[in-house]
Amino acid sequence: MLQAMHRGNSQSPPVWFPRQAGRYQASYRALRAQHPFEALCKKPELAARLALNAVDEFGFDAAIIFSDILFVLEALGMPLEMDPSPRLPKPLRKIEDLESMRPLEKALEYLHFQEAAVALLRRNLASDRTAFGFCGGPATLFRYASGGNHTGYSEIPSHDLFAPFCRKVLPVLTSLLARQAAAGADALIVFDTSAGLLPEEERAHKWIPAMTELRGALAHQAPGVPVLLYGRGLNAHDRQSLSRGGWGGFGLDETENLPETLAKAQGFTQGNLPPLWLTLPPDKFRGQFESWVAPIRSLPAEYKKGWIASLGHGVTPQALEPTVRLAVELFQNLTP
Ligand code: CP3
Repeated sequence: MLQAMHRGNSQSPPVWFPRQAGRYQASYRALRAQHPFEALCKKPELAARLALNAVDEFGFDAAIIFSDILFVLEALGMPLEMDPSPRLPKPLRKIEDLESMRPLEKALEYLHFQEAAVALLRRNLASDRTAFGFCGGPATLFRYASGGNHTGYSEIPSHDLFAPFCRKVLPVLTSLLARQAAAGADALIVFDTSAGLLPEEERAHKWIPAMTELRGALAHQAPGVPVLLYGRGLNAHDRQSLSRGGWGGFGLDETENLPETLAKAQGFTQGNLPPLWLTLPPDKFRGQFESWVAPIRSLPAEYKKGWIASLGHGVTPQALEPTVRLAVELFQNLTP
């Protein structure tokens, strides 16, 4: 995984899936029957256990700490209900709401459970597997903070509060990721799933500069640690601007053309099998996978040195465990 993130992998692609620990898994459902979602995230032994189970059961090359991006909003003082779909009963409405948020140090103290989970995870994970830390990006956090829940906005309206929100949240995100790296995360992921929902203007003039600042700050606070950015609905131009801002690797959603991207990419690229295929029985899945992977197979090995095999989005609760296992195996048996 780390070789791929440095564009130096000459073997089969490393594999991990977003939400690889989750409801499709019998062992997760069993633990979840005993603990609310929030406890699974906030008790480091449980969070680390869930992350490790996914690797043990399915053979993934990386584990990701079991947590959620929205705890950053809670850390800043916004009430958050997770049951498990998130709800923020007091959404952001005015500049005063931002001004009365908790200061950086207090917010970081609140988020200590994430570092503790990373430390436990790294200690118990095999040395040839990668431990990922993560956080949410400013657009997705803003969408929840201002909309109250994920059905609140189908697009993020142009909003006077977005830039001040970024100023408030960016130092928290940077320090949080740096602390996760210091606690043992080998690589980091920023999930800004909703970035593509920002109006073009906002994306160019507010979001890209915010992301550039985040990446620049991380280069100082977590030097040498690779960072991946996942966003849906971003275009080639966005990625060019982000690359100029220091971003080295991108996660593609399932609508994007992976072979074409691999042929052009300078850094590393994650993606992008359709997550719904994991709900097919193994035999059916195998057929779909083979036609999907054919154009990637025929690319020169040079183009695949920075490829992380993954999904376009998270594993769904309806995914079948034998199919997930087969998917990991098929990726790991690809020849370079
Ligand atoms: O990928 C991983 O396995 C790491 C853990 C992780 C979770 N959420 C666990 C989770 C990560 C990285 C996230 C990120 C996250 N959370 C995002 C960005 C990525 C994306 O998926 O778009 C967003 C927008 C959230 C907010 C959130 N948390 C939503 C919308 C939900 C409800 C999901 C649903 O299907 O009902 C959650 C809850 C959540 N976070 C679950 C998991 C495994 C479901 C928990 C359960 O049902 O027991």
